Amino acid sequence: MKKILIIGAAGQIGSELIPYLRKIYGDSNVVASDLHNNLPCNVLESGPYEILDALNGKKMQEIVDRYDIDTIFNLVAVLSAKGEANPVLAWQINMGALFNALEISRETKGAVFTPSSIGAFGPTTPADHTPQDTVMRPTTIYGVSKVAAELLGDYYHLKFGVDARGLRYPGIISNVTLPGGGTTDYAVEIYYEAIQNKLYKCNLSAGTYLDMMYMPDALRAAVELMEADPKRLVHRNCFNVTAMSFDPEMIAASIRKYIPEFRMEYHIDHIKQAIANSWPNSMDDSSAREEWDWKPEYNLEAMTIDMLEKLKIKLGKQGC
Ligand code: SER
Repeated sequence: MKKILIIGAAGQIGSELIPYLRKIYGDSNVVASDLHNNLPCNVLESGPYEILDALNGKKMQEIVDRYDIDTIFNLVAVLSAKGEANPVLAWQINMGALFNALEISRETKGAVFTPSSIGAFGPTTPADHTPQDTVMRPTTIYGVSKVAAELLGDYYHLKFGVDARGLRYPGIISNVTLPGGGTTDYAVEIYYEAIQNKLYKCNLSAGTYLDMMYMPDALRAAVELMEADPKRLVHRNCFNVTAMSFDPEMIAASIRKYIPEFRMEYHIDHIKQAIANSWPNSMDDSSAREEWDWKPEYNLEAMTIDMLEKLKIKLGKQGC
C-alpha cells in the first residue's frame, strides 16, 4: 500500500484529492499538508494533517521520515495570472516545492506526482490538437516554471531513479474549493454567479477556446497515471490530458439550458486574455490514451448538470 504525502493540500485540487486518495489507499496512509488548515472538519479529521510550508525542505523531510512516505503529490502552485503579478514569488514557490519533493524522493527512491498545465505551451505552439511533443515557449512565469518542472521531473527520473510523473492539466472545474489567480477560473465562477445572480461578467472574450476538465476526471487521471505500468510509459513529465474544449459562449449556453434567464456580459481582463490567447485551443491527449488508457468521463453537458446540482445544494446551505 502506498504511503502518500500531499503538499499544497488545501487548494482547489488538494481539498478533493485528500478524500479521494484516502478512500483508495486508506485514511492513515494519506498525510495531507499545507501552510494552513482551512479545510472542512470532516476532511481534516479523516486522517493525518500537517502544517507545512513546502519551501521548508527540512520539515518536509521530517514528515516523510515520520510517516514512511513513498509517494508525494505536489499540488503547490501559484497560478498564471497571479504569477504575472509577482513573478519572483511564483518562481520561488512553484520550483521550490517541487525541488524539495524531488530531492527528498531521491533519497527514498520514491514517486512524485506534479501537475503541469496547458500553461506550459505558448504562442508559437500549434494551437489546435496541440501534440504531446511540440514547441514549448510559454510567455508567463507560470508556464516557464511548468516547463522547468517537467524537465526537472524527467531529469530526476533519468539520473536518480525517482518515479516522477505528471499531467498537463487543462482548466479544472470544481465545486468544493475555488481556484485562485488562474486564467481558466472564469469557468468555475460562472456556475456560482449563474445560481446566485443569474448574471456573469466574463473576463475572457467570446471565441476564446481553452481545454477544460471536471474535477472527478482530474482526480482519477492523477491516480491512474501514478498506478500505470512504468514499462508502458514512453513519456513521464508530463502528459497532455483533456476532457473538453469550449469558449465562454458555449459554457453560457450549456448553463442557459437549465437556468434560462442566465445572462452573460463581457468585461475583458486584458492580462488574462493575453495569457489565454497564448495557450492551446485544444490539446491532443492520444499519448495518455495509448500509454495508460486515459479516457475522460465528463463532457460539458454532463459537467454542467452535476455542477449546478452540487452548487445549488452547497449555496443553499447556511454558512457555505
Ligand atoms: N488553471 C491554470 C491557470 O489558469 C492553468 O493550468 O492558471
